[in-house]
Amino acid sequence: MNAVNDLHAANAVNAADDAPRDLLTVRGLTVRFGGLVAVNALDLSVREGEIFALVGPNGAGKTTLLNCVSGFTQPSAGSLTFDGVDLLARSRHQRAALGIGRTFQNVQLFASMTVLDNLLAAQHAHLRASFAASLLPFGPAIAEDRRARAHGRDILALLGIERYADVIAGALPFGVQKLVGVARALALRPRLVLLDEPAAGMPQTEVTQFAASLRRWRAELHVTFVLIEHNMSLVQSVAETVCVLDYGRKLAEGAPTEALTSPAVLEAYLGSAGAQEVGSAER
Ligand SMILES: Nc1ncnc2c1ncn2[C@@H]1O[C@H](COP(=O)(O)OP(=O)(O)O)[C@@H](O)[C@H]1O
Ligand SMILES: [Mg+2]
Repeated sequence: MNAVNDLHAANAVNAADDAPRDLLTVRGLTVRFGGLVAVNALDLSVREGEIFALVGPNGAGKTTLLNCVSGFTQPSAGSLTFDGVDLLARSRHQRAALGIGRTFQNVQLFASMTVLDNLLAAQHAHLRASFAASLLPFGPAIAEDRRARAHGRDILALLGIERYADVIAGALPFGVQKLVGVARALALRPRLVLLDEPAAGMPQTEVTQFAASLRRWRAELHVTFVLIEHNMSLVQSVAETVCVLDYGRKLAEGAPTEALTSPAVLEAYLGSAGAQEVGSAER
């Protein structure tokens, strides 16, 4: 807990010295699937360097929001800006090249490839050598491939899974596959990483470890994280900002304790009795 307090204190000092900029800005974002409004006129900002948690019940629109940012879903209305760049004018690959990485709720590795080759396949989009050049058994492509392999192994080591580098990904337990999914996103040298329920199904002891890992990866790789997460102890211990979604709308946003105990959130989760209690306590 002290480490968390230290981190928050350090961030507060940084904020006073040099206010962090918004890295991702979402304005009026709306996604309709037929008659269903999955994301409804949503506004939010993610500051550079923070861990930003998105929480809310199943179907709240969390994954749809990440899909809009990474380019897998086209919104019906609104804007998305990443470091001043209009994301909606960019393809999925261009967004990855700008430094937006993601993981998937259901992992989606190349099951028959090794762990390291999964990382390399993702990095290929970033390698400077053209695809044609990469087919030649000499020249700059070889050097790039060597660099990509070394970088991939470094990332696996940072995540503590380097011993699986040459193992076929599909043969690994689901928990390790999820970490490989994170490694694949981090191997692209991203600035923003979108994690969709990375700790789902993890035992609580591993969740505690995962919180420490997230902070370490942020510090070592200088990445900003948007994290969809149902485990509130993880959210409380790791996030600087929490945004609570329900039916595609923002119920609350702010520091974890304030956001998670706001009247709108208590009402949505506990019913109006919970909200009245909070309301009367405030008066
Ligand atoms: N491709 C799609 N087509 C139709 N409906 C979808 C699609 N993707 C998501 N939805 C619906 O949009 C809502 C939000 O889904 P989602 O973003 O996956 O929620 P969450 O990740 O918060 O659980 C849900 O009602 C879901 O059924
Ligand atoms: Mg989801």
